[in-house]
Amino acid sequence: MDKRIEIFLGDITTLEVDAIVNAANSSLLGGGGVDGAIHAAAGSKLLQECKQLNGCKVGQAKITQGYDLPAKYVIHTVGPIYDKEKQGQEKELADCYINSLKIANEYELDSIAFPSISTGVYNYPIIEASKIAFQQVKVFTQTNTYPKKVIFCCFSIKDYQIYKDIVKNYKR
Ligand code: APR
Repeated sequence: MDKRIEIFLGDITTLEVDAIVNAANSSLLGGGGVDGAIHAAAGSKLLQECKQLNGCKVGQAKITQGYDLPAKYVIHTVGPIYDKEKQGQEKELADCYINSLKIANEYELDSIAFPSISTGVYNYPIIEASKIAFQQVKVFTQTNTYPKKVIFCCFSIKDYQIYKDIVKNYKR
């Protein structure tokens, strides 16, 4: 397996990496799920900075400090709310990973951790979502020096196993 990509089972707010990615909503003013956990762990200064950002469009990404988190930065991105009738959601989800990685590259960050964007409250099917995630990270790391390490942070054994299987079965 590509040593630049790791799969971790646990809470993303505990990771001592350069940046953790937040699966936010377009207001960037917090919420539940990983968004709620990150804001709770970072402290109120995170929300204060987010309020200056004027929200974030689906597929886009914006960076803030990490404050009380062990991570230096938080990269906030907004995934699509899954709707099987809607076209273009694959690209929106892919853009979340690409635009977060672009910021990490711009800041020359060594390490970044992603949660499984859109697969919780936003209901994106985990298998399709993890294939998109892995594909985008694989391609990006083949053509960019930074980030040096990308961690997929899974919050359940089920997700962890899905990511492990995808990485194992990846055909170049
Ligand atoms: N660490 C890592 N992963 C986590 C954590 C955590 N502490 N908490 C939740 N997760 C996982 C979920 O299990 C899921 O696999 O993050 C993934 C994304 O789920 P959500 O947090 O629900 O995010 P999403 O599906 O993108 O929905 C975003 O939910 O919380 C609100 O404000 C957020 O409106 C936005 C929406």
